[in-house]
Amino acid sequence: MSLTPKQIELIKATVPVLRENGVALTGYFYNRMLNNHPELKEVFNLGHQRSGAQARSLAGAVLAYAENIENPSVLASAIELMAHKHVSLEIQAPDYQIVGSNLLHSISEVLSIPMDDPLIEAWAAAYGQLAEVLISTEKAIYDEHAQTQGSWLGWRTFKIAKKVVENSEITSFYLQPTDGGALPHYKAGQYISVRVLVEELGLKQPRQYTLSDSPKTDHLRISVKREDPKGELAGGWVSNTLHGLNEGDEIEVTAPTGNFFLIDSTKPNVFISGGVGLTPMIAMLNQLVDANIPAPVSFIHACRNAEVHAMKPHVDAVKARFDHVKSFTAYEQGNEGDADVIGRLDLHQLPRELLPTLADYYLCGPLYFMQAQYKTLLELGIAKEQIHLEAFGTGGVQLS
Ligand SMILES: Cc1cc2nc3c(=O)[nH]c(=O)nc-3n(C[C@H](O)[C@H](O)[C@H](O)COP(=O)(O)OP(=O)(O)OC[C@H]3O[C@@H](n4cnc5c(N)ncnc54)[C@H](O)[C@@H]3O)c2cc1C
Ligand code: HEM
Repeated sequence: MSLTPKQIELIKATVPVLRENGVALTGYFYNRMLNNHPELKEVFNLGHQRSGAQARSLAGAVLAYAENIENPSVLASAIELMAHKHVSLEIQAPDYQIVGSNLLHSISEVLSIPMDDPLIEAWAAAYGQLAEVLISTEKAIYDEHAQTQGSWLGWRTFKIAKKVVENSEITSFYLQPTDGGALPHYKAGQYISVRVLVEELGLKQPRQYTLSDSPKTDHLRISVKREDPKGELAGGWVSNTLHGLNEGDEIEVTAPTGNFFLIDSTKPNVFISGGVGLTPMIAMLNQLVDANIPAPVSFIHACRNAEVHAMKPHVDAVKARFDHVKSFTAYEQGNEGDADVIGRLDLHQLPRELLPTLADYYLCGPLYFMQAQYKTLLELGIAKEQIHLEAFGTGGVQLS
């Protein structure tokens, strides 16, 4: 259904109200929806609910949509991100009815506007339009999964075939489908969703994990950082549950998806990661190495110290085999000589040969880390279009 000029006007008039009330509104909306549909507690990330991140993220999406109501195409990349996330969580078209109805009732209740007010009708039309775009984008991804050899729809049971401790906080899990079937040749950089029972909640919870290796025929590998309690904050539910599981235990997994992946293996590629953000970079590096690609690769990594430097032996072994693979490491703490730099990563300090002008740049790590590297890359003259970002939280990466 397309919006009338009057409805567009009403939506645009709502932007300042949304700016002021957006987070409160979506917080109210989540509580309302999860009370009415407790089954969705196993779909949504309750960790984001407890930190407020999801409320901020949905508010952000609604606001961005309202601001761009006359030209929704500017949201194309945000739509792709949401659609892959939704597909990874098995969100289906009928779920949009539930979200839509709860969202509209929440706007009505929070702003004290009757449901038959033209403003609510305008929002119903706007929501319907956005939902339609998402549903059709998601359908295309589901269709692709259905047609990809070895891929699948829905939750598939995998056995933890092997656990490998990478360092004091990151452990790799080698996952094999219990049905013994084939696996897809996914794009290095993509992620899966994993669902486990969180004892403390008495509920299953899904989370996304990037596949940390190039595609293999008999297993998928993820590498999970255990989120320990920090001060007042409790530890992470799913990462701790996973670390507590044993080889032979089973978990549920959705098919690899995501729009952050190695685009062009013939160009120079620069991988810049912070902490556990190295998982997609290792997958992409391995894909290049498997294919014996001669194009230059810079593997730039920052972490707290040597103790939490994951997969260093692997990267060193790759470098020893291939002259065109170079690395640069920054440790926040350590002794001179432990890493190329002791202190925070500052790309200005790198030899320029590690940052070729025509390379593709891949960035993943904590938000402040990505924001800092993105800014420096622009200062170094790298075009925005060459910089690709993956956020391990929700809501994408706000770059300004
Ligand atoms: C596309 C994608 C790929 C990812 N890939 C990887 C990967 O390869 N490896 C990896 O380790 N992770 C990855 N992640 C992150 C992963 O999905 C989880 O978010 C992460 O493991 C934490 O989940 P959790 O259930 O353990 O923590 P949650 O229970 O979700 O908690 C999240 C954080 O909040 C803190 N917290 C607890 N209470 C509060 C509170 N009251 N207020 C605020 N904060 C609180 C917790 O200590 C924890 O650090 C990825 C995420 C995405 C979106
Ligand atoms: C027009 C409707 C919708 C909009 C605008 C929207 C928007 C978003 C956005 C912006 C994200 C964060 C993406 C990211 O940063 O990775 C997200 C994630 C998510 N969405 Fe939606 N969404 C919509 C519909 C739905 C529906 C119908 C469901 C299912 C009932 C749903 C369930 C989820 C879940 C489970 C996540 C993962 C993050 C989390 O659990 O915190 N969404 N959505």
